[in-house]
Amino acid sequence: VLKAITLFGRPVALEAPLLAIAVHERDRLMTTLMKPDTMLMIPGPTPVPEAVLAELSLPPIGHRSGAFKKVLEDVQPKLRWIFQTQREVFIYSASGTGAMEGAISNVLNAGEAMAVFACGVFSSRWADIAKTLEIDVRLCQVPDGQATTPEAVEAFLTSPEGQGVSAVCFIHNETSTGVLNPLKALCDVVKRLVPEALILVDTVTSLGATDFKMDAWGVDVAVSGSQKGFMLPPGLAFLVASERAMAKHKQVSRPGFYFNFAKYEKSQSDFQNPYTPALTLIRGLNVALDLMQQEGLDGIYRRHDINKTMTRSAIKALGLPLFVPDEAYASPSVTSVLPMPGTDAEKYRSLLREQFNITVAGGQKDLKGKIFRIGHLGAIFPRDVLTVISALEVCFVQAGAAIEPGVGVAAAQKAYLAACQASNKEACRV
Ligand SMILES: Cc1ncc(COP(=O)(O)O)c(C=O)c1O
Repeated sequence: VLKAITLFGRPVALEAPLLAIAVHERDRLMTTLMKPDTMLMIPGPTPVPEAVLAELSLPPIGHRSGAFKKVLEDVQPKLRWIFQTQREVFIYSASGTGAMEGAISNVLNAGEAMAVFACGVFSSRWADIAKTLEIDVRLCQVPDGQATTPEAVEAFLTSPEGQGVSAVCFIHNETSTGVLNPLKALCDVVKRLVPEALILVDTVTSLGATDFKMDAWGVDVAVSGSQKGFMLPPGLAFLVASERAMAKHKQVSRPGFYFNFAKYEKSQSDFQNPYTPALTLIRGLNVALDLMQQEGLDGIYRRHDINKTMTRSAIKALGLPLFVPDEAYASPSVTSVLPMPGTDAEKYRSLLREQFNITVAGGQKDLKGKIFRIGHLGAIFPRDVLTVISALEVCFVQAGAAIEPGVGVAAAQKAYLAACQASNKEACRV
C-alpha cells in the first residue's frame, strides 16, 4: 500500500511500515531541528534588545523600595525627553488601550461632545471607548489608506456636526493601514478653530519612530505603549497630560479609579506608583531609554526613515502596489502592501513564517486578507529590511506572483546607499 506523506514540504510515496518510521522520524526531526530565531517584522510587539532582555531577567525587587524609587526617578526625565515635554509622564501597567481609556475618562464627562478623526482600526478605537463612557462622539472618517488632512479637520470642525466639542482625538500613526498623519498641522487647525478643545493623541506607533513634540504642538493628552518604539514587551502604557488637561480632570465627576490622573500625579511626585507596577518592565524601560538616548532622537528618526524608504523602494521595484501610495503620509513604522493580483497575501505570510521564521503582519478587520504589513519599528535595522525583502521575494515567487527575484533587494540596497551618500557616511552604524 502506497501512501503519500509530506517530508519537508515534498510529497513522498512509501510502503506502510516504512511510512510509520518516516512519520516518526519526521516528527522527531521537526521538534529537534535547529531553527533560526523568530524575526518579528510586525508593528508591535517589536524585537527586544539583548541589554533589555538581560535586565528583564533579574529577580523582582520591592516596589516601595529605595532601589525601585531610584529607577522611577531615572526613567522620568528620559520619558519626558522622548515625548518632548516638561510634564510628568504617567506609567500605567496596561497596554496602550488602557491609556486611551484613561485619557478619555479623566478629561470628559458623560454627555460631552468629542470629535474623533478616524482613518483605521486604532483611530476608530477612540470612538469605541468614548461610546462606552457615554461621550457624545462626533466621528469624521476617511477611507482606509488615506490620511486625516488639515482641510478635512477644518471642514468637520466648521460643519454643524463639529460644533460644541470639548475634545478632539487624533492618531499620529495609524498602524492598521500604515498612514502617518500630519499631526502638527492637524493640531494647528484645532487651536485656531476651537482653542478651548483638548487635543488627545494616540502616539502608540509614532513615538520613538518619528518626531512628536507634545508641548510645542499643544497636545493635551498623549498616550503610548511599551511594545512598540520603546523596544519592550507589552505591559506598560504611558500618558502625558497637559496643565489644561489636569485642570479639566478636576471637573470630571467620574474620572475612574485605576487610570486616575490625580492618583498618578500624587504618587509619582514621590517616585512611587499608586498600585503595584509592572516593575520588571519599568527596569527594562530604563535600559531601553538609555539605548534610545545613545542613538539620539535624530538617529532614531533617521533609522526609521531609512527602513521605510528601503522597504517602499523594494516593494515599488517589485511592482506590488503600496496601500499608502502617497509618500507624504507613508508611515515610518509599518508599510502596508497589496498582493499581486491573483495571489494571496496570507499565503505570502505563511510561506515566510514556515520557511524563514519571519513574521510580518496581516490586515485587520476589513483589510484582513487584503493587505500584509511589514513592520520596521523599534529595534529594526537596515540589515533586517534587506533580509525580509530577500525572503519575501522567494515567497512571492512561490505564491505565484510574477516578480523578478533580486529586484526588490537591489532597490533596497540602492535606497540604503543613497542614504549613505546623502549623509556622506555610513547610513547606519551598528
Ligand atoms: C496606533 C495604536 N494605537 C493603539 C493600539 C492599541 O494598543 P494595545 O494593543 O497595546 O492596547 C495599537 C496596537 O497595536 C496601535 O498600534
